[in-house]
Amino acid sequence: MNKKLIAPSLLAADFANLQRDIEMVNNSEADWFHIDVMDGMFVPNISFGMPVIKAIAKHATKTLDTHLMIVDPDRYIEDFANLGVNYLTVHYETCNHLHRTIQAITAAGMKAGIALNPHTSVRVLEEVINDLDLVLIMSVNPGFGGQSFIENTYKKVEQLKEMILAHNANTLIEVDGGVNAENAKKLTDAGADVLVAGSFIFSSNNPNKTISEIKNKIA
Ligand code: DX5
Ligand code: ZN
Repeated sequence: MNKKLIAPSLLAADFANLQRDIEMVNNSEADWFHIDVMDGMFVPNISFGMPVIKAIAKHATKTLDTHLMIVDPDRYIEDFANLGVNYLTVHYETCNHLHRTIQAITAAGMKAGIALNPHTSVRVLEEVINDLDLVLIMSVNPGFGGQSFIENTYKKVEQLKEMILAHNANTLIEVDGGVNAENAKKLTDAGADVLVAGSFIFSSNNPNKTISEIKNKIA
């Protein structure tokens, strides 16, 4: 069985102590850094942009998993590659020419991911699944941390897993939003490979220990 990964979302970190929180993740059992970019257009919220990601990249020693919640993401693919991003994930709902966007991410030397809103069926990815390194299933509506998990997610993860196996694809399944120690195992059992967790980790008394706690549940 594949190793299951955990990706703490820096959206829930203390931005005034970002280096401290990055070091915490570096020294923890976490596998990736999850970086949420929001533009105030595709989602109501604005998070942070290139200068902050540059600062994160300077200190982070693990895979940079960047989740773009921005309109027309093609505009910035080269910029994210230059920042050292490893996985670049764009929303299905923001791309008119999804196939072209995926090719552009891959050509820029990054792993390509597509994120799906809670209302978007996994079936829309059938024709591109073999070109994808990752599919991110949103388990909350994108835009904010700290929301509650949408239960329909388990079904979507199972359907996507089936599609990946049927196409003999190597695509990872990532779940993002409302992930905690209670639902983590059920998600990996359904087929998820990477779990993003923001507030559950950073709002806890001991984030390093909370990461281990989730890791142990999905090991
Ligand atoms: C939401 C972001 C998530 C968010 C998750 O739009 O994509 O990555 O940080 O935060 P929690 O784990 O608090 O739901
Ligand atoms: Zn995210």
